[in-house]
Order: sequence, then C-alpha cells, then structure tokens
Amino acid sequence: MGLFGLWWNGSAVGFLLLVPGILGWGKEGHYAVCKIAEGFLSEDALAAVKELLPESAGGELAAVCSWPDEIRFHYHWSSALHYVDTPDFLCNYNYSRDCHDSAGHKGRCVTAAIYNYTMQLLTYQDSISKSKYNLTEALLFLSHFIGDVHQPLHVGFTGDLGGNTIIVRWYRRKTNLHHVWDNMIIESAVKTMYSEDLGLMIEAIQRNITDAWFNDMSSLQICTNNRTTVCPNEYASESIRLACKFAYRNATPGSTLNDDYFLSRLPVVEKRLAQSGVRLAATLNHIFSSEPKIAEA
Ligand SMILES: *[C@@H]1O[C@H](CO)[C@@H](O)[C@H](O)[C@H]1NC(C)=O
Ligand SMILES: *[C@@H]1O[C@H](CO)[C@@H](O)[C@H](O)[C@H]1NC(C)=O
Ligand SMILES: *[C@@H]1O[C@H](CO)[C@@H](O)[C@H](O)[C@H]1NC(C)=O
Ligand SMILES: *[C@@H]1O[C@H](CO)[C@@H](O)[C@H](O)[C@H]1NC(C)=O
Ligand SMILES: *[C@@H]1O[C@H](CO)[C@@H](O)[C@H](O)[C@H]1NC(C)=O
Ligand SMILES: [Zn+2]
Repeated sequence: MGLFGLWWNGSAVGFLLLVPGILGWGKEGHYAVCKIAEGFLSEDALAAVKELLPESAGGELAAVCSWPDEIRFHYHWSSALHYVDTPDFLCNYNYSRDCHDSAGHKGRCVTAAIYNYTMQLLTYQDSISKSKYNLTEALLFLSHFIGDVHQPLHVGFTGDLGGNTIIVRWYRRKTNLHHVWDNMIIESAVKTMYSEDLGLMIEAIQRNITDAWFNDMSSLQICTNNRTTVCPNEYASESIRLACKFAYRNATPGSTLNDDYFLSRLPVVEKRLAQSGVRLAATLNHIFSSEPKIAEA
C-alpha cells in the first residue's frame, strides 16, 4: 500500500466531501500539515507524541489529524471550535469581538480552542496519569485546529459562513468557495502537478521550507513575540487578510473559477500548509520541551 493509500480509498473521504459545512482543510490538507510538522519535531516532542497517539495512528501523527472532523457530529460541542467568523467586509479579526459560536457563547471558536488544548497539553509534565484531561484528544484537537486556523476561509465572513454559502464552479464542477479552499485547490494540484501523489506535493513544500523560504524564516516563526508557546490570534489575523486579498477576490456567487484563480491561489495554499506545519512543530516542541519554562500559552 502506498503511504497515502490510507485516505485515497478511505470511505471517510467520500463521506466528508458530501457533507456541506465547515470542516477545515480536507483530509489531504490536514495530513500535509501534520506530516510537515512531524519532520520538525524535537526528540522530546516526538517521544511525547508517540506516547499520546492512539494505536490506530500506527505511530504517525499525520494519520489521525482529521479525527476532529470525523467525530464532529458525535462531539457536537466541538463543531464551533473549527473556525471563527468575522464581520462582513472588515477584513480584520479581534478575539473579544469575534470569538463566539453562532449562539453568541463567548470563547467558542478556533483560537480559544488552540489556547485550551495547549494549556491541557502543558499538564503532560505532571505525568499523564495525573492529568485531568484526555491528552490524546488534546493532541489531536490542537494539531487539527492549528491547521484549520491557517485556512483563510476559517476566519472568513459571518454573512457567508466563511464562503460556505458562496456557490461557484471549480472548472466544471459546482461547489462552494469554502470547499474550494479546504479541498479543491489541493486536489487539483495533486492531480495536475504531482501525478496524483500527495506525498510528492508534501515533499515539494518541505523543500521550499528548507530552501526558498530559508531567508524569510520570520514568516515561519511561531509568534512575533517568540516567548509564547502559540499565538492563534496572529494566525487568525493573517488568515482573514488572505481571505480578503485572495479567497474572496474574483469569487462572487455564480462565478467560474479556473486556471487564473487556481494558479494564483495555489502558492498561498502551499505557504499556509507550510506555516501551519512548522508552527505546529514549534508549538509541540515548546510544550514537550524537558527544559523548565514559563507555562504561558
Ligand atoms: C476588539 O473588540 C473589543 C470589543 O468589541 C473592543 O473593545 C476593542 O477595542 C477591540 N480591539 C481592537 C484592537 O480593535
Ligand atoms: C476545552 O477542552 C474541553 C475538553 O475537550 C472541552 O470540553 C471544551 O469545550 C474546550 N473548550 C474550548 C474553548 O476549546
Ligand atoms: C481518550 O480519548 C480517546 C479518543 O477519544 C479514547 O479512545 C480514550 O479511551 C480516552 N482515554 C481515556 C483515558 O479516557
Ligand atoms: C515554493 O516557493 C515558491 C516561492 O515562494 C512558490 O512560488 C511555490 O509555489 C512554492 N512551491 C511549493 C510546492 O510550496
Ligand atoms: C527570539 O527573541 C530573541 C530576543 O527577542 C531574539 O534574539 C531571537 O532571535 C528570537 N528568535 C527567533 C527564532 O525569532
Ligand atoms: Zn476542522
């Protein structure tokens, strides 16, 4: 079986594609983010991750990074934690204004969830058995949500539910703008540029991280203020800016998106996958570092 056979034939993939609504990067995107992160984990972090992973992961974080999408209907409370909506056309994000679910409950959004699960994982040092949290779930949620918050339309407008209600054509296929950013851009790239092998696309992104972006590591660092473990508010602000500049632009309801849109947006998607992978690794390295640290999230 090819390394990636797992999800190309998994029935869960077909199922997820049929479900309208907000899921975050599709299976491929989440796999890519976690695969990239795995390559940058420190020894301490790798050991902790291996200890926390469920057996079904086969020792690979990437294999289970879509788990929060799969249990979203079962764990209904977790639905709102995959995204944050911002006011229409403002193109900015503000935690106290925007982080709530559709019923207005404060702190029910992706950025709060990232703080929540980072804080939970920091109790790993106290020994797993004593932690009052399920750290396996915390690891999978954190890895998934750091991916989601980098998908520009996960920080989209409230009025169109992050592009979910904007019906467009992706080449000849009818879909919605949110789905284009979760899945279609990545799927089209894999199909047309990487011989249907997601692994090749991931390798190309990894090469870019080590070469092309080497001189611009600032865009890959976890936080502007690097003392902190994770800073989801910065990632969310970047996302809504990219949503306005690239995702929503020239993608009005009823439009057909083809080569012009695909080729100009693909580099944005690749960069966001790279950033989430590197940042997830840095966050996990910080959380699981054996050196004493200030436990601030
Ligand atoms: C964020 O929103 C809150 C509540 O609406 C407001 O009081 C605050 O000034 C805003 N912060 C910024 C930086 O705009
Ligand atoms: C924090 O994690 C707990 C345990 O999974 C969950 O019940 C709660 O809803 C989470 N809250 C947020 C904002 O993520
Ligand atoms: C933690 O969560 C996982 C996934 O939901 C579950 O399989 C496992 O039994 C839980 N562990 C404990 C100790 O509750
Ligand atoms: C690599 O980086 C270049 C320059 O930023 C970009 O144009 C290209 O799309 C990137 N490719 C991948 C696979 O990330
Ligand atoms: C972190 O901050 C320190 C001091 O502000 C700086 O010297 C260092 O280069 C920063 N590291 C990174 C990776 O940005
Ligand atoms: Zn998601």
